[in-house]
Amino acid sequence: MRKISLIGTGYVGLVTGACLAEIGHQVRCLDIDEQKIYNLSKGTIPFYEPGLEDLVKENLENERLLFTTNPSFAFHEADVIYIAVGTPANEDGSSNLEYIFQAANNIATYATGNVIVVTKSTVPVGTNERIREIITMSGLKAEVVSNPEFLREGQAINDTFRGDRIVIGSDNQRAAAIVEEINKPFHVKVIHTDLRSAEMIKYASNAFLATKISFINEISTICEKLGANIEDVAYGMGLDSRIGTQFLKAGIGYGGSCFPKDTKSLVQIAGNVKHKFDLLEAVINVNNKQQVKLVEQALGRFENLQGLNVALLGLSFKPNTDDVRESASIVLANRLIGEGANVAAYDPVAIEKAKSVLPREVHFTKEIAEVLHLADMAIIVTDWDEIKRLPLSIYENMMRTPVIYDGRNCYSIEAVKQHRIEYHSIGRRTVMNLPKKAMVH
Ligand code: UGA
Repeated sequence: MRKISLIGTGYVGLVTGACLAEIGHQVRCLDIDEQKIYNLSKGTIPFYEPGLEDLVKENLENERLLFTTNPSFAFHEADVIYIAVGTPANEDGSSNLEYIFQAANNIATYATGNVIVVTKSTVPVGTNERIREIITMSGLKAEVVSNPEFLREGQAINDTFRGDRIVIGSDNQRAAAIVEEINKPFHVKVIHTDLRSAEMIKYASNAFLATKISFINEISTICEKLGANIEDVAYGMGLDSRIGTQFLKAGIGYGGSCFPKDTKSLVQIAGNVKHKFDLLEAVINVNNKQQVKLVEQALGRFENLQGLNVALLGLSFKPNTDDVRESASIVLANRLIGEGANVAAYDPVAIEKAKSVLPREVHFTKEIAEVLHLADMAIIVTDWDEIKRLPLSIYENMMRTPVIYDGRNCYSIEAVKQHRIEYHSIGRRTVMNLPKKAMVH
């Protein structure tokens, strides 16, 4: 058991803190946000993540997890201090390291002995060395370890306990060995690297996954034009073990707090060493186009969207999370409102978060039936189970014109053909099955 202090109770920090407590460590989580710390101390977590609230409550009760705004108390007797603060994007796409350096300064000011600092946050290559400099300038002896996280929102706990690898990057063997020992109860494969390589593994992994998604989205557009089916194509490709089946699901483009930010940041990191990362720039451009592709198709279909009732189904950037950051729903809602449409939006959990980033003209509801009632067209943004399980007869019976743009390929073409529906999806043939009089709006 180690005494661990953790700075930052955002998504990564909270999951990391709760999971480290769960495997037996004594964890003190530090944050500057008093209200948040108060709520966390009562077991209330500020976002939706399956299983996390129970894990936090359980470890609060057994007193392995504790929340505080007091850095002296947080760092008191800590063997190791984790940094898990946010690294949001600057205007130019580079990472804003303000919170990272604040954390390093806090450690320099309030830590009492020599420290091992473990960085969980995604930080540009070379940042851990700067963290070490800041702390050692204060007279403390510090060793730094880069220990990037690879967890997915919505599956964070499972990913922590059943991850593919734990990356431990350090220039100091003792520090690396301590971090390996801390993580031992997870029984996940560990790899050791130097600091800079660990920092790069994180960016390269996210950039590669984003590349797979943009690649398959490009192939899907070509499939649409040539009459091939993207699902068969992706499956056939993915069975080649060198390619793999995962992250080849064509859709409305990637969103979230990681891929959009990390891809832009890696372009900047490359630019800083005078390398133009052409491939990754293309990945980003493809994704930007993919997010608005369905509205553009709809504009071709309806000529203009003025006064049309549009149902947006799903607002979060993927299912099982209330996170709407960089979700296609934001660009779609703005564009639709800009085109003069009336937009009604459904999501099972993300409405509160969506209200602060979507245009205020949008009407929000947790009832699918309410958004579909007399709608002229529906756009599926997120493949929530609630949406995938929705019988097609509901669209057919409730909408004024059942025209569906499915950004997640939630329905099989065979099933759609059984209904009086016009159905556009990604990388598959369009089904035009509307009664003639409903075809023209
Ligand atoms: C991603 C990575 O998967 C994690 O490994 C990483 O730790 C995390 O970023 C991070 O850097 O913190 P996350 O953002 O939670 O995790 O979401 P993903 O499940 O990777 O999905 C990202 C986006 O890609 C979503 O919008 C999703 O719908 C989309 N996606 C994913 C596709 O369009 N097609 C796919 O085949 C897979």
